[in-house]
Amino acid sequence: MYKAMDFSHLLGTPGFSDTLLSNHFTLYNGYVNNSNLLLEKLKEAQSGTPELNEMKRRFGWEFNGMRLHELYFGNMSKEEKKLDSGSMLGKKMAESFGSGEKSKKNFTESASLRGIGWTVMYYDKQADRLMNVWIDDHATNHLAGCAPILVMDMWEHAFISDYGLKKPDYMEAFMKSVDWEQAEKRLEMAMKN
Ligand SMILES: [Fe+2]
Repeated sequence: MYKAMDFSHLLGTPGFSDTLLSNHFTLYNGYVNNSNLLLEKLKEAQSGTPELNEMKRRFGWEFNGMRLHELYFGNMSKEEKKLDSGSMLGKKMAESFGSGEKSKKNFTESASLRGIGWTVMYYDKQADRLMNVWIDDHATNHLAGCAPILVMDMWEHAFISDYGLKKPDYMEAFMKSVDWEQAEKRLEMAMKN
């Protein structure tokens, strides 16, 4: 069974109202609860039934909804933590995109697609490079075998109550809140594995 993580330490993050964050934590809890509920129901489901088919498909959606939120809140910080261009992540960003700034620009451009979903900076160990991808909804477009390094929620609930339709303003606030030290740790872990 999955246990919901507590991200209340993020309350007070500049650029994010406590109301928006609290509602967002509640939504995240829903994904944890539904992942657990599906796990239980899958145990009882009979093979070859439409119910099993649908629940199997649904599980990836709920699980990714849960895990992406953990990665997203997990790479946010109330205190500003700058990207260290001399760190492994800084170097890989420069190698993969030309510079740290170009890498960030590519990330927010990837996030500007129409629709709801996520943007994920993945590390592809096989090719030893970073890629920014758009995830439709929660579950479509993930790169198999790649490690998520930086995750941004682009569902409307992530910004609309604070920013209305001004996605660029939300993205700017998010980029200021990024915990680059955490992203660096994720890359180090992915490179080791
Ligand atoms: Fe969300």
